[in-house]
Amino acid sequence: MVGITSKESPFTPGRPVPFDYFVARFKEIERLERAIKQVSSGRNENVFISGERGIGKSSLAGFIRYLAEKEYSFIGAHCFLGGVKDLEGMIRVIFQRLLQEVSDKTISDKLKSIFGKYIKGVNLFGVVIEFTENRSELHTLIDNFLPVIKKINETIKERKKEGIILVLDDLNGITGVSEFAQFLKSFVDELATSRDSLPLFLILVGIPERREELIKHQPSVARIFDIIDLSPMNKDESKEFFNKMFGKRNISVTSKALSLMVRFSGGFPMLMHEVGDAVFWVDKDNCIDEGDTMNGIIEAAGIVGRKYLDPQVYQVLKSKTYHSTLRKMGKLPIGESFQRKEILKEVSEKEQKAFDSFIRRIKRLGIIKGTEVRGEYRFVSQLYHLYVLIEAFRAEKEKEIM
Ligand SMILES: Nc1ncnc2c1ncn2[C@@H]1O[C@H](COP(=O)(O)OP(=O)(O)OP(=O)(O)O)[C@@H](O)[C@H]1O
Ligand SMILES: [Mg+2]
Repeated sequence: MVGITSKESPFTPGRPVPFDYFVARFKEIERLERAIKQVSSGRNENVFISGERGIGKSSLAGFIRYLAEKEYSFIGAHCFLGGVKDLEGMIRVIFQRLLQEVSDKTISDKLKSIFGKYIKGVNLFGVVIEFTENRSELHTLIDNFLPVIKKINETIKERKKEGIILVLDDLNGITGVSEFAQFLKSFVDELATSRDSLPLFLILVGIPERREELIKHQPSVARIFDIIDLSPMNKDESKEFFNKMFGKRNISVTSKALSLMVRFSGGFPMLMHEVGDAVFWVDKDNCIDEGDTMNGIIEAAGIVGRKYLDPQVYQVLKSKTYHSTLRKMGKLPIGESFQRKEILKEVSEKEQKAFDSFIRRIKRLGIIKGTEVRGEYRFVSQLYHLYVLIEAFRAEKEKEIM
């Protein structure tokens, strides 16, 4: 029993990766590290980390913040703005986080005295700081954002800190608010025209649509923020990932098993964690072979399907015609691309009529993508394909029973 209960998975599906489990992204790290150095020398830098859902944006931002704090003596905060819908809410999260996350006791005490009037309460032995919710107080902080950050900078300088890194993540609620784009623009302009330099590294994190939304409100945002666009990991990086993760638990992986995991997760870190985690729990002898892997992949397909595809696809695509077309596509050979005309031969007349709008919808949902050949498509990841296949069989069985 001890063996079973003490087993602990190194995988963290659905959560940004801890820094010591972080793999690859060397090119991006190099660029961001260069920016950290620029900031240390007193120049403000602004970056937008963009990429599809689950590609590793928050993990990269978290890693960079760690690097800046550890190697370059920065202080920083990673602010998740998911539920935030206005500037007041944003400013509250930013300062609450900043105060909460500085580990240097002297700085922390000084900041608390600077922000004294805005701190409503300190709970849990001073660890959890509760910032004011009073809108007019928060508004004062918005209007004085630059002087406030400057003040923080003076405070940390006394403790030999080199800069401030602010990560604004999960921007979905706030990019639609036009004041946010204006705020960013005015802040950066104000900074550029002010006499003294400010070592601030501002990192925005979001899917490409969020950046487009910002630009729509304020076109200058396009030039203010350098873009780091994350793509799926390549085969070698994916292999490094699985080897490192299983290596952490002294588990060996056969090369066949490794190739299968790499193939099915398609370079998406999110799917790599799901596959790795499922395979980890299937394995019983600390050696991952092809059999463990196949079973794990089927398990992972089910999990990923229920977590990501069901709510996004089967529930969004309400039409029965769409469902049956998707199921037919699921039965195509895994890993291969398919032609529009091939599918059209297989489907009913009703499905043919709805086909083009169906393809547009599932492309937009990130389930399939076009290849270089016109009229040819493939599933974005083989794990998605596998789930659609499993789901198709499930639906068939259900029909038989009824
Ligand atoms: N470089 C990496 N090394 C190891 N694991 C990673 C890496 N990048 C991301 N991951 C893992 O992939 C998954 C998705 O990562 P993350 O949450 O950072 O993505 P995201 O792009 O921020 O997603 P979302 O758009 O949903 O916020 C997580 O389980 C995370 O642990
Ligand atoms: Mg994220």
